Amino acid sequence: MKSQKVDEDWDKLYKETQIRDLPWFTKKLDSDLENEIKTRDLKKGRFLDLGTGDGTQARALAKHGFDVTGSDISGSAIENAKKLSNDINFLTDDILNSNLPANAFNFIFDRGTFHLFDDFQRKKFVKQIKRILDYNGIYFLKCMSIKQEEFSDGNGPNRLSKQEIRDTFRNDFDIEKIKATVFETINFDSDPKAWFVVLKKS
Ligand SMILES: C[S@@+](CC[C@H](N)C(=O)[O-])C[C@H]1O[C@@H](n2cnc3c(N)ncnc32)[C@H](O)[C@@H]1O
Repeated sequence: MKSQKVDEDWDKLYKETQIRDLPWFTKKLDSDLENEIKTRDLKKGRFLDLGTGDGTQARALAKHGFDVTGSDISGSAIENAKKLSNDINFLTDDILNSNLPANAFNFIFDRGTFHLFDDFQRKKFVKQIKRILDYNGIYFLKCMSIKQEEFSDGNGPNRLSKQEIRDTFRNDFDIEKIKATVFETINFDSDPKAWFVVLKKS
């Protein structure tokens, strides 16, 4: 199981690559999250876009009316994101050793960060997510599915099974949904297979 690249690697990537050439680039809010916002009739609250990168998802969430924070381990990503929006609180933070305050968010969206971590890091990650979510807070996760073939350059993230997701979160969260879906991108011929997971702090 792969562990994540270190922060310098992320920083180098964000310095050297045009945002729209990044494999996960899309301007649109993730449709699974958008549907969930509609179905649950969510209109306000403190939303963290975790591993926000250039902040596309954070900006889309702010347009929905949420009070949005975007955090990322890469200072370069955060610098880029700040240039594109004034009404979002963008900050550098390593979620595995997070300085974000306890119970700070009603909702967390994570499109593509959890699946970077190995088993040891996942334990730290779950602890932090639980700490920073408010009571009854909801964590929306999009991660790569085991059903996705390995990428030919061997550079993809960890590909997860439903069972791994259950095993990781079941002691700390109510698992409300694990749905087979895709990562919507503009840079792949076919969208990579993914899970959309809804977890409530228990
Ligand atoms: C696949 S990208 C997804 C970016 C963004 N969520 C999106 O969908 O456009 C993963 C992001 O996680 C960030 N990241 C990696 N490790 C992290 C950590 N320990 N804490 C916070 N962010 C991290 C990376 O810098 C990168 O921006």
